[in-house]
Amino acid sequence: MSRTLDDVNVAGQRVLLRADLNVPVQDGRVADATRLERLMPTIRELSEKGAKVIVLSHFDRPKGIFVPELSLKPVAEALGRILGKPVAFAADCVGAEAENAVAGLNNGDVLVLENTRFHAGEEANDPAFAAALAKLGDIFVNDAFSAAHRAHASTEGVAKHLPSFAGRLMQAELHALEAALGNPQRPVAAIVAGSKVSTKLELLNNLVTKVDILVIGGAMANTFLAAQGYNVGKSLQEADLHATALEILKTAAAKGCEILLPQDVVVAEKFEAGAPTQVVKVNAIPANAMALDVGPATVDAFIKRLPEIKTIIWNGPLGAFETKPFDASTNTLASAIAQATKEGKVISVGGGGDTVSALKLAGVHHDLTYLSSAGGAFLEWMEGKILPGVEVLSKGFSNLG
Ligand code: 3PG
Repeated sequence: MSRTLDDVNVAGQRVLLRADLNVPVQDGRVADATRLERLMPTIRELSEKGAKVIVLSHFDRPKGIFVPELSLKPVAEALGRILGKPVAFAADCVGAEAENAVAGLNNGDVLVLENTRFHAGEEANDPAFAAALAKLGDIFVNDAFSAAHRAHASTEGVAKHLPSFAGRLMQAELHALEAALGNPQRPVAAIVAGSKVSTKLELLNNLVTKVDILVIGGAMANTFLAAQGYNVGKSLQEADLHATALEILKTAAAKGCEILLPQDVVVAEKFEAGAPTQVVKVNAIPANAMALDVGPATVDAFIKRLPEIKTIIWNGPLGAFETKPFDASTNTLASAIAQATKEGKVISVGGGGDTVSALKLAGVHHDLTYLSSAGGAFLEWMEGKILPGVEVLSKGFSNLG
């Protein structure tokens, strides 16, 4: 396990804090500040303990060149507003510009450095670039779980140069994921949905070996249904993955993982808001219709199982949730899980970009035990992969070379 802020005296130290400031920005303003808010415990703690806080982050994908529209300046300003105190900004993350800005810091001050991805050395994990970053700090704190699947200079390389610690958000993410999949209270159920089996193959293959119940929803469920011989009409599905889907079902059966596929679906002839819909059993999908949400009987069947389940991990909305009325099953299930969580009956962990948006729309994003701030990193963790930005923290900085 990584060392945390409990294991270091940060007073008077230059703390290089890897944050994930990769937030949605529209017309120069932060459109969703959730990730910034989640950083507050670490930034406040470091600042209050008298550290000089130097925030490092990537923003979007500028591919190693300076792109003015992808500057972190507006994000630094938003961070200052949320923090309630001035946050300085340096127009580069290495070199004289950054070094001078760091030299001007007093204990407790917060500085944000410009987008690390303006340098090609960031994504290449160039040792010289990592060393240039490391030069700015005395210790490294990583609070960017959501970028920990990237072996980049600011997430991995720099940790080899400095004593490294997990920040409070990183700690919370790792704790929640360990509780959900690492060492969960059983029975544990996973809900996996989304449009394609192909993007979640590794995830499904890992989960069938780890969870007791696997609920499959979204358009990817159509591939499983079609593989089993159901006619899915015009529904989105991947015909080339039927054999793979059957293989997953076989592995699940061998491992004692119960798979719950839709019993009924909401179909429409057109995928548009307010389109006329009908609920049909999966063996009665009309040839000219497509399944756009799982049906009420399917959701009810899973809700009835909730009392026996101790842990739930959720990735992916059950239907095309951004277009009403195809958000209905996701909303119903989200409310039931939120209620069971509030009553202390289940530990619930959700994550992944669409999942967070869907739970927000359902109005229950504060009611799960933990909602991850990560997209790709959450998925890779669920796939059973080792995240380089996490691994390097537990190895310590003695592994340089
Ligand atoms: C994310 O938003 O998932 C992280 O910030 C990682 O961004 P990336 O996919 O561009 O590496």
